[in-house]
Amino acid sequence: MRIGIIGGGTIARMFVEHIRRGDLGRARVVAIAGRNERSRGRDIAKSYRVPFVVGAKALLAKKPEVVVEAASHDAVREYGEALLKKGVALIVLSCGALCDDTLRGKLERAAERSGALLSVPSGGIGGLDALKAACVAGVEEVTIAVTKPPAAWKGIPYVERLEIDLDRLRGPHVLFEGAAREGVPHFPANVNIAAVLSMAGIGFDKTRLKVVADPALKYNTHYIDVRGRTGRFSIKLENVPAPENPKTAWLACYSALAALKAVKSPVRYGT
Ligand SMILES: NC(=O)c1ccc[n+]([C@@H]2O[C@H](COP(=O)([O-])OP(=O)(O)OC[C@H]3O[C@@H](n4cnc5c(N)ncnc54)[C@H](O)[C@@H]3O)[C@@H](O)[C@H]2O)c1
Repeated sequence: MRIGIIGGGTIARMFVEHIRRGDLGRARVVAIAGRNERSRGRDIAKSYRVPFVVGAKALLAKKPEVVVEAASHDAVREYGEALLKKGVALIVLSCGALCDDTLRGKLERAAERSGALLSVPSGGIGGLDALKAACVAGVEEVTIAVTKPPAAWKGIPYVERLEIDLDRLRGPHVLFEGAAREGVPHFPANVNIAAVLSMAGIGFDKTRLKVVADPALKYNTHYIDVRGRTGRFSIKLENVPAPENPKTAWLACYSALAALKAVKSPVRYGT
């Protein structure tokens, strides 16, 4: 399998490392794509002796079969449609970008027309198998509470506008509560899990999102509750954050690797 990676951060580095170790069999990285010539991806590419490129055209020239987007909402907009149109499978991690119905429609149509796979892994959450099954029967309520230590919420313009001193919180503080449609765009690098939950379930308008900064937390902790005709279920996830990036959980990195493994597998266990 010829793999392209967009991004040069926590997930991109982990990916290249696993592929280099042979964890994905004969898969190899054919290019790492960055935002510009000075991007961090260039250093990763150099240290793993992989070509570094900028832009969809240059990435396509390296003839990837599958591209893993591990960069940003902008990257989904810049690369997504161009890759799918050319029949390249795309695994999207910055899936909050797909809260934009126009963009999601373009990607879905490009995938339909070319036959390429558009895959959004479950990232830092689970239970999407049960949710999808329950939705066939009918689901009335899906809620997700995304709670992380205060450090994970720093540097976000929406949070800065709230004028909260994240270093001095004494207890849990709710940063947002409402529809995923409204909340997801406020936190571009932090609540992608609410986006994949919405897309696998009852959509961005009906899925309820609560975002909390909690100084007592060691792990990124998420609570999901689903109620519908088949019954109810509740899930709690306590995710170990990546040491260099408190916004990203290890589980999310490994979910992308698992999605990549599934691309060519003729057998599927679980919905
Ligand atoms: N779906 C999930 O559950 C989930 C979980 C964790 C992270 N994520 C998302 O995955 C992405 C990667 O996570 P990370 O922890 O590796 O982030 P990171 O911040 O460590 O690295 C992101 C990298 O992407 C690069 N980048 C940004 N915009 C780009 C563009 N337009 N073109 C090319 N490169 C670009 C940056 O320069 C940086 O090197 C983020 O968007 C993050 O929000 C999703």
